[in-house]
Amino acid sequence: MHIATATPAWAMLAYLVAGICFILALRGLSSPASSRKGNRYGMAGMTLAVGTTLITHMNVGIIEIAIAIGIGAVIGLVTARRIAMTDMPQLVAAFHSLVGLAAVLVAAAAYLNPQAFGIVDAAGQIFTVSRIEMGLGIAIGAITFSGSVIAFLKLNGNMSGTPIMLPGRHLINIGTLAAIIGLIGYFLTDQSPWIFWTVTALSFVIGFLLIIPIGGADMPVVVSMLNSYSGWAAAAMGFTLQNTAMIITGALVGSSGAILSYIMCKAMNRSFISVIAGGFGAAPEAGSGGAAKVDRPWKRGSADDAAFLMSQAEQVIIVPGYGMAVAQAQHALREMGDLLKKEGVRVKYAIHPVAGRMPGHMNVLLAEANVPYDEVFELEDINGEFAQTDVAFVIGANDVTNPAAKTDKSSPIYGMPVLDVEKAKTVLFVKRSMGGVGYAGVDNDVFYMDQTMMLLADAKKMVDDICKALQH
Ligand code: TAP
Repeated sequence: MHIATATPAWAMLAYLVAGICFILALRGLSSPASSRKGNRYGMAGMTLAVGTTLITHMNVGIIEIAIAIGIGAVIGLVTARRIAMTDMPQLVAAFHSLVGLAAVLVAAAAYLNPQAFGIVDAAGQIFTVSRIEMGLGIAIGAITFSGSVIAFLKLNGNMSGTPIMLPGRHLINIGTLAAIIGLIGYFLTDQSPWIFWTVTALSFVIGFLLIIPIGGADMPVVVSMLNSYSGWAAAAMGFTLQNTAMIITGALVGSSGAILSYIMCKAMNRSFISVIAGGFGAAPEAGSGGAAKVDRPWKRGSADDAAFLMSQAEQVIIVPGYGMAVAQAQHALREMGDLLKKEGVRVKYAIHPVAGRMPGHMNVLLAEANVPYDEVFELEDINGEFAQTDVAFVIGANDVTNPAAKTDKSSPIYGMPVLDVEKAKTVLFVKRSMGGVGYAGVDNDVFYMDQTMMLLADAKKMVDDICKALQH
């Protein structure tokens, strides 16, 4: 059976159109207002690409492929419908692991049966260029797979999020990476199975080693970096399968994932190299901004107090975070915003780039609750306004408002740009208890400031109660 066939001109054109659809999808997804359109372009491009591939490969067990697609579609549909918004990062990590595994399986299939892929000469030698593609595909695919599995286990709580630091890990990592590169080089001159399988095994190991020392707040960057790897692995295998759509899609996923990693590194003020080197998110040392110091004085407020203060304000800036997502308080929050606007209060939402647990987490939830896009502002566009704002209403956000990031060099979030909520005349802080800390596990000085009033309750319950108070 021959898998790689010469692609007819119409199919090349269809792949080109699919590629354009993917570019338009990325463009659409860059703003909440156009994201639905972007998704539709993505779906259309993928349907066209998969359909074209199936039509041009009718000779390769189409029944088995249809069954596999059917099973995959059912699993995808059920998972996507059931998954809670808060578990989305784990789902993304799990999906990336499958892309990595697919690249490994395609590379292994091509290696075991190169004739079927048309990548072999008359003497039975695999073409040099195909060996490069195969070597890269298997290495990047295996790293993506094991790295994503660890990211999934850490995000899902099956494994501690604390960095695991092996002694001499930099030396081990550099040695293993050098061995992988050296063996891929050797593979170009010798196609013996031991070389191929050793590259595969070492790549699985390095994926694991690279991700275990990464913890805490660096995980979003890791997930996006693995997204980028999965794209490059797919692009490498696109060359082996001689599939243009796969090369284009892989390159788009690879580069957009890399750009997103860069943007997130900037948002957390971390260099990409320091993220890869790992170690961030370790339990903070005692006395360096660790878990909540409940013995400090703080003020508690009620829903009625909050409703009164906000209804008297000229401007309220709402700062949502992970807790809003957990409580699913976005609809109640929109209602609260509407009630305040009726009272003549100007309402704005301030979104930190890493608020929540995935890129765009808050934007998606606010869009779901029909919060008008023109009320939603990014950090750099709104941070200057807190000083002239009467009330900052922080709901389920902690790390992204923590001023220690600006001043405390020993804090694990030091250097991360944060929303300057402490500059507002009054800060209303919704969380469930004084003991609960955010993702980075550090206390927040804003809780104990004179102008802060703690609203301790589940976010949805508190906002519902504030709405009731505003209605009266
Ligand atoms: P966090 O710092 O994690 O704070 C969440 C807050 O919500 C906590 O204070 C928690 O306190 C409160 N909370 C939890 N459930 C609640 C509920 N049902 N009702 C009310 N409050 C609730 O969140 P953040 O400020 O959004 O910061 C995000 C953090 O996650 C950053 O460190 C970021 O680096 C990291 N991270 C981000 C991403 C991306 S890409 N966005 C991905 C992974 C990690 P209580 O327990 O006391 O209620």
